[in-house]
Amino acid sequence: MAVNFKESKTKENLMRAFAGESQARNRYTIGAEKARQMKMYSIADIFVYTADQERAHAERYYELLKSLSGDTIFIDGGYPVDQQESLAQLIRAAEHNEKEEAENVYQEFSRVAKEEGFLEAASAFSLIAEVERTHQLRFAEVAEMLEKSEYFACADTGKWICTNCGYIFEGKQAPSSCPSCHHEQGYFLPYELAPYKGNH
Ligand SMILES: [Fe+2]
Ligand SMILES: [Fe+2]
Repeated sequence: MAVNFKESKTKENLMRAFAGESQARNRYTIGAEKARQMKMYSIADIFVYTADQERAHAERYYELLKSLSGDTIFIDGGYPVDQQESLAQLIRAAEHNEKEEAENVYQEFSRVAKEEGFLEAASAFSLIAEVERTHQLRFAEVAEMLEKSEYFACADTGKWICTNCGYIFEGKQAPSSCPSCHHEQGYFLPYELAPYKGNH
């Protein structure tokens, strides 16, 4: 059935999504700061990269609310407090939140939007759910590497890229400092996580 947007559930869901994305962005920039304090600079980059995408999601949801400009939307929602001390635990918490969005929250919001006749919002929710799934999987991969102490080491030959200068190192373990730019080990990123790696 077609519903007036002003009276819709979708209007509230868009605002909840905007709030959720805004908070995720902040949680991840705070996570990045924590990673930097621990000298895990490439993990800080992963947080910032993801935070920027959450900002883009927030912007998309906010755009879809434009016709209500000047209104205030009241929402009811639950939001996580994730201040785990260990980086692996912090990333596991992020993974959990991404999974919730990907599998439950945005699927449901998309279903409701479709039911109410807001197809553009329905599509935004389901496309962004797909991105949240990639966030979930990336965080899972990073957390697992940290838990197994495989972020900077591996049993066979591994590859790491220095996120400062781009030098690619191959070996069993990322060097304690980059042979090219001398930045410390924390700048090395497992090569499979590099977003612009091309076909090397
Ligand atoms: Fe997002
Ligand atoms: Fe996300």
